[in-house]
Amino acid sequence: MQTIEHQLNQMQVDLQLQSVILSVLAATKDIAFKVSQGALSGVLGATDNENVQGETQKKLDVIANQLLLDELVKNPYVRAVASEEEDLPVACTAQAPFLVAFDPLDGSSNIDINGQIGTIFTILPAAEHSGSHQPQALEKEYYQAGRNQLCAGYVLYGPSATLVIALQGQIHEFTLDRIKWEYCLTKSDLRLPADTKEFSANMSNFFYWSEHFQNYVRSVIRPNEKDSKFNMRWNGAMVGDVHRIISRGGIFIFPSDNKNPKQPAKLRVLYEAFPMAFLIEQAGGKAFSETGPIMDIALNELHQRTPVILGDGGLVKDCLN
Ligand code: F6P
Ligand code: MN
Repeated sequence: MQTIEHQLNQMQVDLQLQSVILSVLAATKDIAFKVSQGALSGVLGATDNENVQGETQKKLDVIANQLLLDELVKNPYVRAVASEEEDLPVACTAQAPFLVAFDPLDGSSNIDINGQIGTIFTILPAAEHSGSHQPQALEKEYYQAGRNQLCAGYVLYGPSATLVIALQGQIHEFTLDRIKWEYCLTKSDLRLPADTKEFSANMSNFFYWSEHFQNYVRSVIRPNEKDSKFNMRWNGAMVGDVHRIISRGGIFIFPSDNKNPKQPAKLRVLYEAFPMAFLIEQAGGKAFSETGPIMDIALNELHQRTPVILGDGGLVKDCLN
């Protein structure tokens, strides 16, 4: 069976970029192991800390973050690492060609219920002429558009650990073989199926959305003789919802809301929206904020947030019109 290492070689991916991808994946194998051991590995439950986003950190958030940092800091091709769990980028090797960003453990609320969780990552080019190697200066190197991404992917820790990765205009799925401990190719050239009528939204936000999104959801659930009926699915972990959409089609919406006026959008541009938009576009779908394609957002704050509407192109268009 084709391993990720063989696939990257066959695609003639730059060897330095390959090395960075494999460092990310080495950490995800450790995370997958700990997740599969559940309570036995002592990784469940909360810590006493809050992260930079003001959220209580789960033990697994902290462990996953550290495993990724440990792998990437020692990789000579990584200039800096930005994480949803870190205030500022962590400086790695000065002058190195790549910047990495990740959400180490997406869907934290599912950790303790043995639900779907995952790691989301993206790799961006570092500036050719680097300036200071201080975290504050490195932060500005991340201020790029989503279209600059060189590679993005996620590992979904579900009943099996599934890697979906996009680069060089290709998107493939690998499954972690838990005997050989290798990511093996299980689906090539993923394409979003077009005919699924399924939407994914946290409906408890309904009355806090703008009328536009309330009307859209009303329109898809309203009984109607001629249209096929919509189903709804909500995992509470973006990685699980996006994986379902890449596998089965449909639409995911996380619009802005006025539940918490200080934070109208929830999902992070760099760690969630950029990589998922890259993957969805590569699989033939669309990914928009409320004002344009997510891939065109020019980041100007490391922990910036954005509304996210992604999935089948036709459904996304219907939702935004
Ligand atoms: O990382 C943020 C996140 O956990 C996403 O994975 C998920 O889509 C979203 O938040 C769920 O938010 P809520 O718990 O408000 O439905
Ligand atoms: Mn997340």
